[in-house]
Amino acid sequence: MKKIALALLCLSSLSFAADYDPIRGEMLSLSCTSCHGIDGKSEAITPYIAGMGKANMYQILLDYKNGKRVETMMQKHAKGFSDEELEQISYYFSNIKR
Ligand code: HEC
Repeated sequence: MKKIALALLCLSSLSFAADYDPIRGEMLSLSCTSCHGIDGKSEAITPYIAGMGKANMYQILLDYKNGKRVETMMQKHAKGFSDEELEQISYYFSNIKR
């Protein structure tokens, strides 16, 4: 019995991607667009983030949040979101055409 419980525990702890919820993704993305432009299509000095690969953006946001990547603005901003929210945001921007 213990072995089965252990096996189930291992299976359930495999990290799987969260399902994308487009409405949440769009709502959460609004906190980015004041700096990165509508839908991330920046026309200012902030980076253009529309159409960035989802996995790439998610990793960058996690690195900001965990302090692995340090820049002026983003690590402060990324700390305000759960990992799952950062993933939803990454889905949203990756679905925008460049
Ligand atoms: C206060 C302005 C501001 C807000 C709000 C903001 N950003 Fe940024 N972002 C920046 C700046 C400035 C940079 C350039 C790096 C730096 O100085 O932090 C950047 C860099 C990035 C990068 C790295 C781009 C690259 O090509 O390396 C990503 C990805 C990013 N932001 C995503 C987001 C997301 C997603 C949000 C919303 C959760 C967000 N940003 C909110 C200002 C902002």
